[in-house]
Amino acid sequence: MKVDVLLGLQWGDEGKGKVVDVLTPRYDVVARFQGGPNAGHTLEFEGQKYVLRSIPSGIFQGDKINIIGNGVVLDPALFKAEAEALEASGHPLKERLHISKKAHLILPTHRVLDAAYEAAKGDAKVGTTGKGIGPTYTDKVSRNGLRVGDVLHNFEEKYAAAKARHEQILKSLDFKYDLTEIEKAWMEGIEYIKQFQLIDSEVEVNNLLYQDRSILCEGAQGTMLDIDFGSYPFVTSSNTVCAGACTGLGIAPNRIGEVYGIFKAYCTRVGSGPFPTELFDETGDKICTIGHEFGSVTGRKRRCGWIDLVALKYSIMINGVTKLIMMKSDVLDTFDTIKACVAYKIGNEEIDYFPYEIDDTVEPIYVELPGWQTDMTKMQSEDEFPEEFNAYLSFLEEQLGVQINIVSVGPDRDQTILRYTEE
Ligand code: GDP
Ligand code: IMO
Ligand code: MG
Repeated sequence: MKVDVLLGLQWGDEGKGKVVDVLTPRYDVVARFQGGPNAGHTLEFEGQKYVLRSIPSGIFQGDKINIIGNGVVLDPALFKAEAEALEASGHPLKERLHISKKAHLILPTHRVLDAAYEAAKGDAKVGTTGKGIGPTYTDKVSRNGLRVGDVLHNFEEKYAAAKARHEQILKSLDFKYDLTEIEKAWMEGIEYIKQFQLIDSEVEVNNLLYQDRSILCEGAQGTMLDIDFGSYPFVTSSNTVCAGACTGLGIAPNRIGEVYGIFKAYCTRVGSGPFPTELFDETGDKICTIGHEFGSVTGRKRRCGWIDLVALKYSIMINGVTKLIMMKSDVLDTFDTIKACVAYKIGNEEIDYFPYEIDDTVEPIYVELPGWQTDMTKMQSEDEFPEEFNAYLSFLEEQLGVQINIVSVGPDRDQTILRYTEE
């Protein structure tokens, strides 16, 4: 059986959580492969709204197995808060959620280091989510990390050594902090995760595949935030791309089947870094207001702009996207015209590929299309799509070279329209 991957093609917050939830009934297993509580994946159904940070978005659809893979970084305190809130709302987890012993632990001092490094960068700060993501992956790669499996043996000793090392760094940075509160909650989190099935997830995943079970891998962040291919250094610290599903779960590349690439009908970014199509005018404000573009984790206002097909083509190439999913098209329902960036102008040169460096001199070249000016939020089938909307879809498919198989017209699970063979 093949493994399908669903991942973001822009700078995150494309709507991954919603679509993973919609697609979950087709799979036996949903697995997260990278990132951590920097993610905020929103799901809405039956009048309820949930924001998931470390727990996969397949947790609400029946008795599916959900796996937190080795590529994920886990903060036990935040995980406990998230899991307990879900259990309290009537969604039992303990039997269904399995955690890789090889996932790395975010320590309280990782969070402090995240803040200290950001402060040291001043105006050049990345604008991280402050969850300790960068320092935790740094420790992983430099072979200093603590893993979930470590909680089972001599944990206190290992924790004390890691904390002492971090404290030395913080001293050298002359950064003031108080760990009392967060350390207490964190230790409670460590006890809490022992109640879950801590597994060798690469073995479980492959055994499930041999048993012909199907797996959907859920990406976090987006391709333009990938540590290798994103707008470095304004990126996250993991491989958010399709290859990350292989390393973050122990899945062989030849097992990958469909690659679902998800994007908004426009574009947003939260935190610092280049964003060629960013709008600083009323149109940008309008997108932000109608789209409720505020971070689901930090509450920060998201920067808004037109869709960037140069960046999208790059993301499709890197991930080998086989199916596209367009989100939040309803946000553009009232616009007279809609713009799509088809090339960049740098100096006197026009390019249609994503360059090594993006700075303020990069000027987007737009194609302007007529808006559909129709409320699409209650539509159930593509037969109801207005002509201008169909023209927008055809234009994007032609530019991107991949079919748009799913269109989302609102935040609810039911506001999802399947096209082509998806039905
Ligand atoms: P994720 O991180 O990729 O899962 O996305 P987020 O949950 O951070 O952000 C997407 C936001 O858009 C959430 O508030 C969703 O409820 C909302 N959303 C998802 N799809 C749609 C849609 O088609 N239309 C509208 N208006 N909102 C949507
Ligand atoms: P989901 O999964 C949007 C951004 C941060 C910052 C940069 C680095 O909900 O799409 P980090 O805390 O990872 O070191 O921050 O990456 N960022 C996200 N932006 N959605 C996310 O996740 C993000 N996770 C991190 O704003 O610019
Ligand atoms: Mg999000």
